[in-house]
Amino acid sequence: MTALLVVGFFLILIVIVLFAFPRFSPIPYFPTNKKDLPLILKALNLKNSQTVVDFGAGDGEVIFAAAEESLSKNFDTLFVAVDINPILILIMLARRIIHPNKKNIQIVYGDMFKLDAGSLSKKKTETVFYLYISPWLLEKTVKIIRKSHDKSRLVSYFYPVPSLKDIEKKIDGNIHPIYSYNAV
Ligand SMILES: C[S@@+](CC[C@H](N)C(=O)[O-])C[C@H]1O[C@@H](n2cnc3c(N)ncnc32)[C@H](O)[C@@H]1O
Repeated sequence: MTALLVVGFFLILIVIVLFAFPRFSPIPYFPTNKKDLPLILKALNLKNSQTVVDFGAGDGEVIFAAAEESLSKNFDTLFVAVDINPILILIMLARRIIHPNKKNIQIVYGDMFKLDAGSLSKKKTETVFYLYISPWLLEKTVKIIRKSHDKSRLVSYFYPVPSLKDIEKKIDGNIHPIYSYNAV
């Protein structure tokens, strides 16, 4: 009994550390609001043979919904969910098992600022990035996207990208705004 309590205590401690300390979670976990999902899916503008990457995918709220819509349209689009938090990765791996479009969903555990972003996309297909991250990290992320992809699209939830103002399209979401950028 005591051993179980000690194990439980340490498990709770690990979860707290992984979610609360910036060293382990540089961007806090907040899922995209479900009420904005239909407009986000519209902004992603899903097409056949694309790659959709969610940098900091959380529990997969957006990527799983998009993969389901893609399947309903018979698209052969790849969905890539990247996250640095091992607990959220485990949740996504579990969700993936029962997802009807699981063959097209990849879960990647890693730091989006360190991994080879170019290797995430299917070759010669359009790549769409979805971001719901801290505003001060947006420009750094756009640089990584530009370095690894010739031309891609970007959808940013809640926060605009100042350097892309010229090509910005703002959509008023039900809860938060959605910013869409073509040819990033
Ligand atoms: C605001 S949440 C967004 C979750 C999800 N995209 C959504 O919209 O529901 C930000 C996520 O980024 C992840 N994250 C933070 N820093 C990261 C990094 N350097 N590389 C990959 N993921 C990161 C966090 O673990 C968290 O799940």
